[in-house]
Amino acid sequence: MEKLLIEGGRTLRGKVRISGAKNSAVALIPATILADSPVTIEGLPNISDISILKNLLVEIGGKVTQDGSDLTVDPASMISMPLPNGKVKKLRASYYFMGAMLGRFKKAVIGLPGGCNLGPRPIDQHIKGFEALGAQVTNEQGAVYLRAEKLTGARIYLDVVSVGATINIMLAAVKAEGTTIIENAAKEPEIIDVATLLTSMGAKIKGAGTDVIRIQGVERLSGCRHTIIPDRIEAGTYTIIAAAKGEEVLIDNVIPLHLESLIAKLREMGVVVEAKDDQLIVRGNRELTSVDIKTLVYPGFPTDLQQPFTSLLTQAEGTGIVTDTIYQARFKHVDELRRMNANIKVEGSSAFVSGPVKLEGAKVKASDLRAGAALVAAGLIAEGVTEIIGLEHIDRGYEDLTDKLKELGANIWREELTEEEAEQFQNS
Ligand code: EPU
Repeated sequence: MEKLLIEGGRTLRGKVRISGAKNSAVALIPATILADSPVTIEGLPNISDISILKNLLVEIGGKVTQDGSDLTVDPASMISMPLPNGKVKKLRASYYFMGAMLGRFKKAVIGLPGGCNLGPRPIDQHIKGFEALGAQVTNEQGAVYLRAEKLTGARIYLDVVSVGATINIMLAAVKAEGTTIIENAAKEPEIIDVATLLTSMGAKIKGAGTDVIRIQGVERLSGCRHTIIPDRIEAGTYTIIAAAKGEEVLIDNVIPLHLESLIAKLREMGVVVEAKDDQLIVRGNRELTSVDIKTLVYPGFPTDLQQPFTSLLTQAEGTGIVTDTIYQARFKHVDELRRMNANIKVEGSSAFVSGPVKLEGAKVKASDLRAGAALVAAGLIAEGVTEIIGLEHIDRGYEDLTDKLKELGANIWREELTEEEAEQFQNS
């Protein structure tokens, strides 16, 4: 087991290239199950969530070949193997195996998903969608059993705007008989990416990226090639880091439109952000002004950037209020930031961040993926050395984080935990 060490305070400059989007990838990979011939996805990030999903495809009989960041999946000999336990529990996105296997085989057994602990994360809207399409869904000993004689298109209104439910229902509906209409659908770019892959496979989908998606079921879907979109959350994380410590940082391979809410807030704080085709140029500022943010569904401020943004707010003049309306308990990073001298108070679903403060290096623990990103940002800002444990969370979502930051001039490295540290970690 390793820890991440950062000697903070350095000015960052240069270029960082953004990888393919994790939250698209985790849906695109299960979507390949629906085809009857090989599908190639280009530009996948090299992160642990992807390795787990690839293994799951192999477990159900898929033939998977990797060529650099391109993955080819031949789904022809897959079977509806039950996946009640094991790897499926390691990440939340394994729930996409429900929609994809139901869509192809009309049956599936999938363990209830794991993933980041951000408070309650129900999947009732996914189930509501599957049932509307004609599936029987039961929960037996921690696994979800889905069975259908046949799937028939339906009109489904989502009571909560959910990325996962929108994608999962699309996966189950593309081969159903007749038309499915998803109302109050989520509009995140990852949904458009999945719809683009499915359309290239032969699906008939209209309206992805709006709140009404219409799907006309088709009998078969076949192989194709698809290039994944860049990861807007990874790009946003480096943009935030550059805002705090960057002289001039070029963020390469981004879709600037995907980051409009973040860019607007950074400009309000006094950061210079220039958007050029698929690049952002970020010039940091040492005299930042505080702002308030409220996380909302896309195109609002993403909950996934709230945590790293909190680290930036510690450097701004005044008190900024961070309110998370998506995951009201997503504040586990705050205690760790306090160890680094941050002045933050949490009340209900809001954190009040007062600054500017001099952050100091400390021993801290990443409790989830974006909490990890927040601690990395804080470590780069802080004086002295920050030691971060819980790297398995960071490795789930950030490809080559250490090397990418080194390229920008950061002093960052990984070390094995000593036996004593490993023991403390297990007990913490
Ligand atoms: N919700 C329900 N019922 C449902 C589904 C969701 O009540 O059936 C609630 C959730 O509890 C939450 C809200 O609806 O309060 C939105 O959840 P959503 O379903 O949109 O989240 P998700 O699909 O499980 C994805 C990302 C998350 C990201 C959220 C919100 C993936 C694999 N995960 O989760 O990403 O925070 O959308 O944008 O795509 C991350 O990358 O760190 C991460 C956690």
